[in-house]
Amino acid sequence: MKKFPENFLWGGATSAMQIEGGYGESNRGLNINDMNTAGSKTMPRMTTIQYADGSFEQYPMFSKDLPENAKMVTMDDLYYPNRRAIDFYHHYKEDIALLAEMGFKVFRMSIMWSRLFPKGNEEKADEEGLKFYHDVFNELHKYNIEPLVTIWHSEDPVYLVNEIGGWNNRKMIEYFDRYAETVLTEYKDDVKYWLTFNELNNGIMFLDWIKGSGDKKQRAQATFQQLHHKLLASAHTVKKAHAIDPENKVGCMIAYAVNYPLTPDPADNLKQVETAKWLNWYTADTQVRGKYPYFAKKFWDREGVDLKIEENDLKELEEGKVDFFSFSYYSSACVSAKDDYEVSGGNFTMGAKNPYLKYSEWGWAMDPQGLRYALNEIYGRYEIPCIVVENGLGAVDTIEEDGSIHDTYRIEYLREHIKAIREAIDDGVDLFGYCSWGCIDEISAASGQMNKRYGFIHVDLDDEGNGTLVRRKKDSFEWYKKVIASNGEEL
Ligand code: BG6
Repeated sequence: MKKFPENFLWGGATSAMQIEGGYGESNRGLNINDMNTAGSKTMPRMTTIQYADGSFEQYPMFSKDLPENAKMVTMDDLYYPNRRAIDFYHHYKEDIALLAEMGFKVFRMSIMWSRLFPKGNEEKADEEGLKFYHDVFNELHKYNIEPLVTIWHSEDPVYLVNEIGGWNNRKMIEYFDRYAETVLTEYKDDVKYWLTFNELNNGIMFLDWIKGSGDKKQRAQATFQQLHHKLLASAHTVKKAHAIDPENKVGCMIAYAVNYPLTPDPADNLKQVETAKWLNWYTADTQVRGKYPYFAKKFWDREGVDLKIEENDLKELEEGKVDFFSFSYYSSACVSAKDDYEVSGGNFTMGAKNPYLKYSEWGWAMDPQGLRYALNEIYGRYEIPCIVVENGLGAVDTIEEDGSIHDTYRIEYLREHIKAIREAIDDGVDLFGYCSWGCIDEISAASGQMNKRYGFIHVDLDDEGNGTLVRRKKDSFEWYKKVIASNGEEL
């Protein structure tokens, strides 16, 4: 079997909104995640919104758009986990030293739009914000860790969403372009690997969550129009990145949905093909090939979408093809042409439960072979370099009396997935890196919990925001260190 390539980028991934914090003491503005309360396995995160008539509502914003005539507001008595998060803002030196101790070659992080442009539409970026990321990059380079930077990880400034309707409004492209150009120029010498939008396809996944509800058509219209705007902003960013430095490598990023037909019924198989087009290929094809796929029009018509495409848009998409493919992978699901199946959860995707797989505490299927399958599907379709930028197990960890944390379940999950990527490399896939998700515990995106932990490094913080923020190594820390040191030979 082939070995992992030399210079394989071993590392881990985070997002600014889930780790940075630092709200209230720098100039950073609020981003939409700062408005979400903490939820739980069964309770969604809530945002307080206020309607024009003054009334309030607790609203599950995470998977929805802001209703018309409403604005997100802060309530004094609620806890907003992302505002302090794990306070990477003040702990980055300590945290990066720990990642370096594990031997990290790459660290995936995002830049918070609202740290640089507090409202999102200022003419110039905030100096204190710019300096913060220079400091972080310097610290990474001190240990020869390559930054892999996501320019947008759902960190839309609240001001833009409240005042102009966020990505429904084409004006967002202009503001995003300014932000992206600032970042690409400012950090030209610090960063070589960029991702434009995190999990660009998850808007489509959210559409499936509201299947059958009355506002489906209106949501579909909004979702595809927002995606069109983001696809354009992504293409502009790729073009700009190449112009600023031809050495820049820019990737797309999707939440890759692995689906299997629930039975050998040909109807289930066709359903699987359609689901893959819908969930994966719609955005990915557009970013990799620079044009909407052949089936896009059929989707728009079927969903009653009247997409507003302006004169140069298609040309601009064509000019902004990405250099590499990145994706998140946590779990898989089955699809069925019938409706009578037991539903399983997963990272944005829901489908039928797979009797061959075990499920995590949060109901996500654990399917390492699905990762090998995903890599073959992606590489077979595009033949451009690939990198896994998120993969991991969210679990509750227990601290023993002596302070140790025996997260064997996490080691087992990661070991099996790393074996699967090695097999994919042996299959011939050009894979240049692997980032486990949440290499340090962070605020869960969907549930807002701290309790759902992914890290090799434990952070002392609970779901209510109590804790010392002390960092502790879990057993997986030493295990991953060995994996990296042996370039994947010792699993
Ligand atoms: C991905 C996101 O969808 O899944 C991350 O890019 C997120 O931001 C990760 O944290 C895991 O999801 P969760 O909800 O368990 O944090």
